[in-house]
Amino acid sequence: MYPDVWGREIDIKKEILKDFPILGRKIGGKRLIYLDSTATSQKPIQVLDVIYEFYSRSNSNVHRGIYKLSEESTEAYEKSREKIKKFIGARDKREIIFTRNATESLNLIAYSWGSQIIRKGDNILLTVMEHHSNLLPWRRIAREKKANIHYIGITKDGRLDLSELDNYSKLEPKILAITHVSNVLGTINPIKDLAKWIHDLGGFIVVDGAQSVPHMPVDVNDLDADFLVFSGHKMLGPTGIGVLYGKFEILDEMEPFLVGGEMISRVTLKDESWNELPWKFEAGTPNYVGAIALGMAIDYLNALGMDWVYNHERRLVRYALDKLLDVPGIKIYGPLDDRDRGGIISFTMDNVHPHDIATLLDEDGICIRSGHHCAQPLHDILGVPATARASFYIYNWEEDIDALTASLMKIHKLFAI
Ligand SMILES: Cc1ncc(COP(=O)(O)O)c(C=O)c1O
Repeated sequence: MYPDVWGREIDIKKEILKDFPILGRKIGGKRLIYLDSTATSQKPIQVLDVIYEFYSRSNSNVHRGIYKLSEESTEAYEKSREKIKKFIGARDKREIIFTRNATESLNLIAYSWGSQIIRKGDNILLTVMEHHSNLLPWRRIAREKKANIHYIGITKDGRLDLSELDNYSKLEPKILAITHVSNVLGTINPIKDLAKWIHDLGGFIVVDGAQSVPHMPVDVNDLDADFLVFSGHKMLGPTGIGVLYGKFEILDEMEPFLVGGEMISRVTLKDESWNELPWKFEAGTPNYVGAIALGMAIDYLNALGMDWVYNHERRLVRYALDKLLDVPGIKIYGPLDDRDRGGIISFTMDNVHPHDIATLLDEDGICIRSGHHCAQPLHDILGVPATARASFYIYNWEEDIDALTASLMKIHKLFAI
């Protein structure tokens, strides 16, 4: 299956690794092995350069000045919106709103749109595998409106349990808010099928793409998502820039989330009217440099091709599942099949707390995350307070997984009783 042109693979590997200066760092004399891209990705030199170049050559606020620098800023900012539109297959660039991150995008949707359409007694459907960012905004709106929250559960192997779908149909949920890829289990959820299901019931689907958009081809039209959110910092871009995609006709009907500068059409001492989309939702000075740098991150991913990114991670997941399952005392959460799994592997080891695993791996220069990964209800269901999580991206290769496995073997021996 993979890779049939080994020579070309080696070239891509060299090219990629040379673009990420941080990966040349040593931690305690050991090569840095970064396996925490689910939390945030590393940034290629091209993205870092754009930030430096922009602040040193063209910096000025966007959509305000009529002088050359301001025009350059505005053009670059709007060009980035256009790139994002193409990247996720949106029809219109007015459907792309810049926010700070996926969390802010989800809060915006729940606050502005949820509060407009949710009524007393309505049903909102979530899943037990949601990140807190896609749970708490909906829970707050449900509390305020006296609406009900329901959860789709999971099967033993960490997939969504869709056997209860007929029962959920009877609830006629107004909203299904669901993650595309679980940040703990790695499960890829069948969004297209669920979008059809909820639309047939007259409801809407909000997709948390924080862990899918950076890692696989995502097309909002093909999925028929009403909303899709993601964060720039998880896809080679800088922190502080996120995206909210929404269908034009829905966004157009929505009230703004934040009010203030630049999001208005006219303000008098008595009343005000809102700017057009997308600026109606971009109050105040936006993170335009972040948006421009995210545009470069998208250029970088496009140059590799999102199919390449997906297949690369899939091959690593298959390799990692095979290797890690050989480590004594390891339990892996989520599907053991690479076909419906992203590059995220959460695990526990008998007699060793995940924080101890992460601390000991750090001594070997290996960065993983330990804890509940902002998904405490899911950990309650898994029956563990915390897991250790290794996650992969374009700059990881099989040797990183070999190093992880060797370190875990050592840790097992250390704690063996
Ligand atoms: C599935 C998922 N949703 C939402 C978020 C929140 O992203 P951010 O902290 O960038 O807002 C994360 C972050 O890890 C995530 O994994």
